[in-house]
Amino acid sequence: MTEDKSFHMTPDEFRRYGHAVVDWIADYQSRVESFPVLSKVKPGEIRASLPANPPAQGEPFQALLKDVERLILPGVTHWQSPNFFAYFPCNASGPGILGDLLSSGLGVQGMLWSTSPACTELETHVMDWLVGMLGLPEKFLSSSTGGGVIQDTASSAALCALLAGRERATGYTSNKKGCDGRLVAYASTQTHSSLEKAAMIAGIGVEHLRLIEVDENFAMQPEALARQIEADKHAGLTPCFVCATVGTTSSNAMDPIAAIGEICRRHNLWLHVDAAMSGTAMLCPEFRHLQDGVELADSYNFNPHKWMAVNFDCSAFWVSDRKALIQTLSILPEYLRNQATESGAVIDYRDWHIQLGRRFRSLKLWFVIRHYGIEGLRHHIREHVKLAQEFAGWVRNDDRFELAAPVPLNLVCFRHKGGDAVNQAIMDGLNRSGDLFLTHTKLNGKLTLRLCVGQTNTKAWHVANAWKRIREAANELQKIA
Ligand SMILES: Cc1ncc(COP(=O)(O)O)c(C=O)c1O
Repeated sequence: MTEDKSFHMTPDEFRRYGHAVVDWIADYQSRVESFPVLSKVKPGEIRASLPANPPAQGEPFQALLKDVERLILPGVTHWQSPNFFAYFPCNASGPGILGDLLSSGLGVQGMLWSTSPACTELETHVMDWLVGMLGLPEKFLSSSTGGGVIQDTASSAALCALLAGRERATGYTSNKKGCDGRLVAYASTQTHSSLEKAAMIAGIGVEHLRLIEVDENFAMQPEALARQIEADKHAGLTPCFVCATVGTTSSNAMDPIAAIGEICRRHNLWLHVDAAMSGTAMLCPEFRHLQDGVELADSYNFNPHKWMAVNFDCSAFWVSDRKALIQTLSILPEYLRNQATESGAVIDYRDWHIQLGRRFRSLKLWFVIRHYGIEGLRHHIREHVKLAQEFAGWVRNDDRFELAAPVPLNLVCFRHKGGDAVNQAIMDGLNRSGDLFLTHTKLNGKLTLRLCVGQTNTKAWHVANAWKRIREAANELQKIA
């Protein structure tokens, strides 16, 4: 009978294959160090190994898992390897992965409180927990004037902040009439490129995103910011927004939030603080001085998906005045009207970000916080910082190398004194070996190597081995030269 015909996976099959997938992931975690950290495939190689056409008939599940092993794994760069020191980390953990699996299992779409009350309320609750855990100002609490929301990325959070700043500065008219070409926003030359993208999307225009000079430590110069704002006002423009960074991507520079915040207050500008990776360090009270003045921020963002063992994606964003954000992003078509929303007693997170639909992301955050506890999380952060500081000490003590920037936390920017070509050769050789993965930046025009300690399972011997390999690579190059 055709009505009985079904191609779905039964609950029993799901249980069986689900166990196989969890086993596969656990095995992957145990053997992750056996793979080259940076994938060695050539462009197009993975696609060439895949069948040209999709199957007309379903295939056995075991065949899928086999193909992950055979066809997909060679093209994976192992972000979860303890020898991954590149970019900023994107670390994961058992409780995070299982929380995410549960989110998939529930399959909830939490755009409104009423489309799944637990999805909204757990998120509000965990975001309030984090305010206390990170020592953030109480105004960010949902019980105060503000509140937190989980976004996909720091880029989206910055865009929402910029939009709210734009609207506040124009009396909420630019949403209606469009931008008048006079709005100006401010960041530093070291601010993440997502702000440039946000300026493009928000109708500010890249030319009206002023990139303020930095000092010798790559931190924004508040006097230069103040001068630029004055000049723009004098020219009849409308300054609306400043982004300060706690831990820039290139060198982990710390913008002086207090001084920048005072300037924002004086000119009534929206201050957004981007603490994408380094925000996690604020779990430890001894690092909070790095963001002194954070109480002056209108919004704040950090990515638990970078350094807090919550697998991608999970970006925590707070505002001090939720009304400003909601007024900026709220839109209510008839088909979404419902009693709970009309009552005003609930949060509808669709009004707190760009997209409508949303996953149950707070589950993985909740699982991670409950599994580790605040002390467990602090322990791992302190370990990472300690290891990076030790590495920085080794660099300082080798006269062939130099530090290229201060090392406030877990990122070490350093270079061989032999020049760009030598540094490039060291990095390329090590990355080609597959044994570790480093990336670079340019600081003061010079190619600089970056080693970031933030992978969940990185231990002292991984960092010691990285330094040994870097020195050996330098020795080899010296022999050739
Ligand atoms: C300081 C900073 N801001 C923003 C971002 C963008 O992060 P996302 O990928 O979450 O948009 C990064 C990424 O590394 C970053 O380091």
